[in-house]
Amino acid sequence: MLRIAIIIGSTRPGRNGEAVAKWVYEIAQRRGDAKFELVDIKDFNLPLLDEPMSPMMGQYTHQHTKDWSAKIASFDAYVFVTPEYNHATSGALKNAIDFLYHEWVNKAAGFVGYGGAGGVRAVEHLRLVMAEVQVATVRNQVALSLFTDFENFSIFKPAPQQEQSVNAMLDQVIAWGGALKSLRELSAVY
Ligand SMILES: Cc1cc2nc3c(=O)[nH]c(=O)nc-3n(C[C@H](O)[C@H](O)[C@H](O)COP(=O)(O)O)c2cc1C
Repeated sequence: MLRIAIIIGSTRPGRNGEAVAKWVYEIAQRRGDAKFELVDIKDFNLPLLDEPMSPMMGQYTHQHTKDWSAKIASFDAYVFVTPEYNHATSGALKNAIDFLYHEWVNKAAGFVGYGGAGGVRAVEHLRLVMAEVQVATVRNQVALSLFTDFENFSIFKPAPQQEQSVNAMLDQVIAWGGALKSLRELSAVY
């Protein structure tokens, strides 16, 4: 079965991202057409990129990089749960992406953004980053507003229709993730 990571993209104490990612995970768990896992970049204690070689070389010197590499390599697709910080994704998530290369290649991804404007600018930014690590990003995305999906900008109370948006995004991530898994298997043979 396809393995999909739901990645928590913020590390800030008191972050809203954790509640959002857990809600996405609960919706995903009710499906049955893929295996989902919550991945918290905070657990990997990644410093600012400290590997001497380019990640394209895959020669990692630090244990934190090896642990992060093994975790990310084990998935076929990703759902990035991203905050919007200054019209981009978080520095923590960008840094975590930068640590690796081959682990991401020929996989699929979907996005759940949140912020004052649904995190849409953060997601647009992430799509450009994903293109460079050869991740295929799906069109359907979830845009959660601090004004209508949270109370006092901090208590997560998603509007009822947002569950449907999560499933629409997951439908595409699973379809594309499966197609790319076949492609990776073929290119391993030829
Ligand atoms: C440094 C910083 C910059 C932010 N910049 C934006 C922004 O450009 N646009 C926006 O809509 N919200 C912005 N926000 C609001 C965040 O999207 C919101 O606080 C969100 O909950 C942050 O995610 P987190 O709680 O998981 O860290 C910013 C918040 C922070 C802390």
